Amino acid sequence: MLHPLPDDMLQVPHRRDVPFSKLTTLGVGGLCQWLFEPTTELEAQAFVRACAREGLPWRVLGGGSNLVVLGDVSTPVLRLALPKEVRREGLCLTAPASHGHIALAEAAAVAGLSGLEFASGIPGSLGGAIRMNAGAYGREWVDVLKRYRFLTPEGDLVEKVPEPGEFRYRWSFLTGGRVILSATAQLVEGDPATIRAQVAEYREKRGTSQPLSKRNAGCIFKNPPGLSAGRLIDKAHLKGLRIGDAEVSPEHGNFLVNHGRATASEFAELMEQVRAKVLEVHGVDLEPEVEIWRE
Ligand code: EPU
Repeated sequence: MLHPLPDDMLQVPHRRDVPFSKLTTLGVGGLCQWLFEPTTELEAQAFVRACAREGLPWRVLGGGSNLVVLGDVSTPVLRLALPKEVRREGLCLTAPASHGHIALAEAAAVAGLSGLEFASGIPGSLGGAIRMNAGAYGREWVDVLKRYRFLTPEGDLVEKVPEPGEFRYRWSFLTGGRVILSATAQLVEGDPATIRAQVAEYREKRGTSQPLSKRNAGCIFKNPPGLSAGRLIDKAHLKGLRIGDAEVSPEHGNFLVNHGRATASEFAELMEQVRAKVLEVHGVDLEPEVEIWRE
């Protein structure tokens, strides 16, 4: 249905039929039929402008660590592949959206800059983290975000400071065809040993409470206000519920893991069973925290 794609779009580096098992941490889903990987902001802009002009739908992929893909995807997918450079100006660090999120937190720690310790165990790309306003241990990205650059759905480049209403718990307005290109974190001077100790403590906590050795997409459902989705799932005795290779982790109820060959339909079924049971037992309708792509 998407043929032919316009020539200017096909000038942007791209690959065909890439399995989502290679593009997501969960490893579920079919083929990404069109994967566009611009290596410059201008190429990214050319892609978005071409899609806007042709009225083509498209999607943005980051590190694929918060994504559940439930089939083949024929819609063109944009995944930035910008040069991995981190720029320091005073106490600020700027990195491209395609930079590894944990790697950026590590760069801050090495530079003796404090403020990104919370990010040190959150996988994926920086862009994905900003887009989801990722957070842990009571901190989230908007707390340190000083400035960011993004493309509008028409492909215009905007650089701005965050404003009220743009970021909330695990949500930002950077969806619907907006593409984050880079972000600047405002950090504070810290003692490298103290930063390292904090990072080690967070990693230890994460390692003992989350099933990090299994393929997963992080927490599957949002925490309802004042409640913990993991605890609700746990109390509904759903830990260990397994459909094929998809299982509610025995370690943390809000993690659904792929033991190796879980299919999209097994995953969809497991998510639905968990949602339905929590609704029946607790009267709480859980909302996905992960992004779900169905086609
Ligand atoms: N709990 C249970 N059983 C479980 C899991 C958790 O009783 O199976 C209890 C824990 O004992 C704890 C409470 O529930 O008392 C909260 O659990 P936890 O500390 O693991 O945090 P969480 O609320 O489940 C959130 C984020 C995580 C983030 C951690 C650490 C969400 C949906 N989850 O988890 O983020 O790593 O805090 O800050 O906001 C993610 O975004 O993908 C993610 C994993």
